Amino acid sequence: MSDADLRRAAARFGTPLYQYDFDVIERQVLLLRRAIGPRFELAYAVKANPSAGVLHFLSKFGLSSDVASRGELAAALRAGFPRSKILATGPAKSDADLEALVRARVSIIHAEGEWELEQLEKIGARIRGRIPVGLRLNPPWGIAEKRVIIGGPGAKKFGFDIRSAERVLRTSFPHLDICGFQVFNASNVLDARLLVENTQNVLNLALSLSKKYAVPLRSVDFGGGFGVPYAQGEMPLNLGVLRKGLQEIAARVERELRLRGTRLVFEPGRFLVAESGTYVTRVLGTKRSLGVDYVLVDGGVHHFLRPVLLGTPHRVRLIPEKTNGRSGPSSPSKKSLVISGPLCTSLDILHPAARLPLPARGDLLAFENAGAYGYTESMPLFLSHEWPAEIGVRKGRLARLRKAPSAASLLAAQECPF
Ligand SMILES: Cc1ncc(COP(=O)(O)O)c(C=O)c1O
Repeated sequence: MSDADLRRAAARFGTPLYQYDFDVIERQVLLLRRAIGPRFELAYAVKANPSAGVLHFLSKFGLSSDVASRGELAAALRAGFPRSKILATGPAKSDADLEALVRARVSIIHAEGEWELEQLEKIGARIRGRIPVGLRLNPPWGIAEKRVIIGGPGAKKFGFDIRSAERVLRTSFPHLDICGFQVFNASNVLDARLLVENTQNVLNLALSLSKKYAVPLRSVDFGGGFGVPYAQGEMPLNLGVLRKGLQEIAARVERELRLRGTRLVFEPGRFLVAESGTYVTRVLGTKRSLGVDYVLVDGGVHHFLRPVLLGTPHRVRLIPEKTNGRSGPSSPSKKSLVISGPLCTSLDILHPAARLPLPARGDLLAFENAGAYGYTESMPLFLSHEWPAEIGVRKGRLARLRKAPSAASLLAAQECPF
């Protein structure tokens, strides 16, 4: 996103704010579609960025979507994702979530526990129908990359371990049509070979369970996990390697009778939206304390928790308020800066050691790659500061996606009955 766009957005909508570049989202969809090839289906994981404007834009590319709650289901339907292309996955779906998913007739519900199957069976009996269900599996292998966030071998709250899955597959559920499997084994993987290997392993597992328990394979879902570089020096995912590996798998799939007509689904979130997003804050002031340079800004981890939650600072850019020659060869030397927000906790560090020239009051600091698991993975109620707005930019045109609720409207939603 250009400095000019960010300056324009900050002047028009105020700071702090989230800005998403829709041209980047489009680029990422086209890149990933090309890399996975026509045999694999792309379902957007709504949790990565559920902003209505983002969902609506993505739905226009004909993507499927993966939802984790009835709130995400409502958002996906409103955005225009067809129910026949909605999948549902989530480790603790409430009875109300399951009810809403069945009522909406989503294409498949990935169950993650026996109580979910029992609940779905009850709903199926009540509506006298058969509900399409996949089993989310927790396989005994991981993805051997140390940056993996979810997944890896061992006990987990996600899905069924293989022994539990086999027990379930021996049980009769007259109102469930168990017709697929899902495995989400890792998030933010940058090694394409590991993603290809995982895809083949998941397919082998699905095939062997399908043969052993006569499960029709209408859907095999490989989860998300396509990574983007956050830290300095990290290399982007090699899409050429991904493409070649998945092409080889697609060729093998053609020879497998059981996989004729099977949906082969990836459900990425981060890859499609992370790089589109920037969290923009304004510098309130700087101070030096015991040799450390602090930059205090008008946003913080209440809006952008990810850097402290995962201990991975995002790249940050200084955008001087005025373009008065403070950049270029004669620009001031860089320092190591601690960038912090207004929360009364020392956890509120947006960057522990940013290498930047010391900014001036009024300058902008823009945190990059904030489009996935940014705003909605944060805790905006903490300390009752105002929330950021969400802004989109498409081919140079700026538009608001979500108005920040005012402090007054947040107060108005509360009652004091005692
Ligand atoms: C079930 C499920 N599918 C897909 C995703 C998206 O993963 P990513 O953003 O790494 O592609 C997640 C992320 O947590 C998930 O839990």
